[in-house]
Amino acid sequence: MVPHASAPYSSGASKSWKTRAEDATAQHTGTPPNACMNEFGPFKIGSLEVDPPILQAPMAGFTNFAYRQIVREYGGVGLQATEMVHASGFAWMDQQRAEHPDRLWGVRDEPRPLAVQIWDNDPEIMARVGRKLVEEYQVSVVDINFGCPVKQITQRAHSGSYLLKDPARMFSIISRLVKACHPTPVTAKIRLGCTCDQINACQVARVVEEAGAAALTVHGRTADQYFKGQADWNRIAEIKSHLISIPLIGNGDVDSVEKALQAFRTYNVDGVMVARAALGRPWLFSQIHAALKGDTIPDDPCLNQQRTCMLRHYDLVVERFGVAKGTHLMRKYACCYAQGKSGAREFRTYVSKAEDRRDFFRIVETYFPS
Ligand SMILES: Cc1cc2nc3c(=O)[nH]c(=O)nc-3n(C[C@H](O)[C@H](O)[C@H](O)COP(=O)(O)O)c2cc1C
Repeated sequence: MVPHASAPYSSGASKSWKTRAEDATAQHTGTPPNACMNEFGPFKIGSLEVDPPILQAPMAGFTNFAYRQIVREYGGVGLQATEMVHASGFAWMDQQRAEHPDRLWGVRDEPRPLAVQIWDNDPEIMARVGRKLVEEYQVSVVDINFGCPVKQITQRAHSGSYLLKDPARMFSIISRLVKACHPTPVTAKIRLGCTCDQINACQVARVVEEAGAAALTVHGRTADQYFKGQADWNRIAEIKSHLISIPLIGNGDVDSVEKALQAFRTYNVDGVMVARAALGRPWLFSQIHAALKGDTIPDDPCLNQQRTCMLRHYDLVVERFGVAKGTHLMRKYACCYAQGKSGAREFRTYVSKAEDRRDFFRIVETYFPS
């Protein structure tokens, strides 16, 4: 199950939104040296221009090739990310001349820009894998996961958010990786700290920049919060003044056009990253993009279009994973698409039992009628 974004799905959420031009009274708070080029303009990660300044977050188990393709078709994303990849696992497979990690499927051939996220705690292995991603996969960005709160990653592998306790190790991981990946930019994704008593994101931000990273993404929760409570955007905003020249990407609970605009206007981030809210609404990025340009915000697709999107998504997933695994995988996306809609509970009950294409299509067609 995906932890819910804070506000429930509302198919009409964006409709009440005025365009940027109409909202001329919005406050804007000055222009620090590392601000983006204009109020809502693109920003740079190294030499890569992120245009629009909206990023699709990495999500393990979700942001695979099929999902990225669906998001790309709606547009509105300046940079997409894979699921996190375990560097040691990748290095081992490579040494054995075994197939590369599943999570890299599609990465070689799909359009750019694309960031691949890796996790681990060994600077040398991370550097070796980073180099491979740059040379063999020509990725646009190598991102490091310093935010994952899952026990298997933190307690057992001393990686992810565990490393927030060890800025010196973060420094060596980033600096080795930057050297190995040059000129491809390396970025870091963190949380505010490990616990609310150990919030150290401002200090960590300095370490990240000094080690040579080209951007910092901050999820505004502590690791021990997992997804509880609300992302603290005031804390995210505080980090901005600790960065000298690299951009700050804010993340956490952005589930509407309104919240994305607020992130830029009130919290002065250079980029906004969206994760859970776009799982069942892959068109959200394009709505945010329209708002940033001052265009009229497109309505959510009608039920019929959403059905077409879900069925296309199904076919992409099955193309990759086969019918049995693909149908199984698609159940969780289908629940995301249904979130907040009338009959969602019943839909979830039925779709969670779908075993093949016929089952899946029949259930979807019942609840998302043409
Ligand atoms: C199912 C799931 C998987 C995730 N996997 C990753 C991951 O692989 N790497 C990462 O940096 N963050 C991961 N995250 C965290 C998200 O990227 C993001 O930081 C978090 O969900 C907050 O953003 P949101 O409120 O827009 O969802 C994951 C989140 C979820 C819900």
